[in-house]
Amino acid sequence: MNTRITELFGIRYPIIQGGMHHVGYAQLAAAVSNAGGLGIITALTQPDAKALANEIARCQALTDRPFGVNLTMLPALLQADYPALIDVIIQAGVPIVETAGYNPQAWLPALQEAGIRVIHKCTSVRHALKAQAIGCDAVSVDGFECAGHPGEDDVPNFILLARAADELTIPFVASGGMADGRSLVAALALGADGINMGTRFVATREAPVHDNVKQAIVAASELDTRLIMRPLRNTERVLANASVDRILDTEQQRGANLQFEDIKAEVAGVYPRVMQQGEVDSGAWSCGMVAGLIHDIPTVAELIDRIVEQARDIIGQRLAGTIAPDG
Ligand SMILES: Cc1cc2nc3c(=O)[nH]c(=O)nc-3n(C[C@H](O)[C@H](O)[C@H](O)COP(=O)(O)O)c2cc1C
Repeated sequence: MNTRITELFGIRYPIIQGGMHHVGYAQLAAAVSNAGGLGIITALTQPDAKALANEIARCQALTDRPFGVNLTMLPALLQADYPALIDVIIQAGVPIVETAGYNPQAWLPALQEAGIRVIHKCTSVRHALKAQAIGCDAVSVDGFECAGHPGEDDVPNFILLARAADELTIPFVASGGMADGRSLVAALALGADGINMGTRFVATREAPVHDNVKQAIVAASELDTRLIMRPLRNTERVLANASVDRILDTEQQRGANLQFEDIKAEVAGVYPRVMQQGEVDSGAWSCGMVAGLIHDIPTVAELIDRIVEQARDIIGQRLAGTIAPDG
């Protein structure tokens, strides 16, 4: 396939695996890149910069295709050692960085002077325009459907992507709710240059997470996600479970007095228990509405091949046949 995103990143298919806490390890990133997409290692899952360097080296041993590193920009309170992480990324020759969360402006010069392409993930047209203005090479536009942090505007992708296409000049990918060839064609039709997927890649054979996590995604429908932390203006879309019910009860009881401390036990630091031990009800973990479209656990290559195959069929057969020839 050929879009502005395949050209920018030197990849075969415009399909990106977004950064995912305690999921985005070398094994998954390499599998995605080897299958022709763009795999991404999640920097903040690593305990420190040295561990990130090892993870990047592990990925380089598993693939000779381009892959990226996700740098999630946290609020000032939780700052990571970004200069050390960026140094490691540059030294290792990683060609692409996905930034997310807060404004990455402070880190762009170092990354881009090293020849690294930066794609910033954002949830509104105004933030996408800001990313373009500060010099990001591309953006990932994350609709209300998405797993993780959809922002506070609640604009779903049918509107958000078309709005982004109207306003942006840099390439962008559609993120949130993407699962198959239909998603890819729809994203391209709305003006995007490719897709970014999170939840769909968790339910693959190579995702280095407990089988309970994959089965929970397969079992879930599009009705089984909840939004937590909305009163803190840090909304997160997570899979519904007993722990999430307790969080939502606490949010309701505390009302305007809610503090992060009130729900911290079931939100912070739960990923290792969920992803590695498979205790899927032990806390809140990101999952998108797209769970309703996920019914199996294929290999990454099977998934990407069938997305591309289905997209080809839709464009070449179904859509081609819908317009009567001129005259
Ligand atoms: C388990 C999980 C963990 C995630 N962790 C992060 C993260 O640490 N940083 C980040 O930028 N996005 C994170 N995301 C969001 C994904 O990169 C992606 O933007 C999102 O999943 C897209 O929506 P989808 O799940 O509908 O495909 C996470 C998503 C999931 C499912």
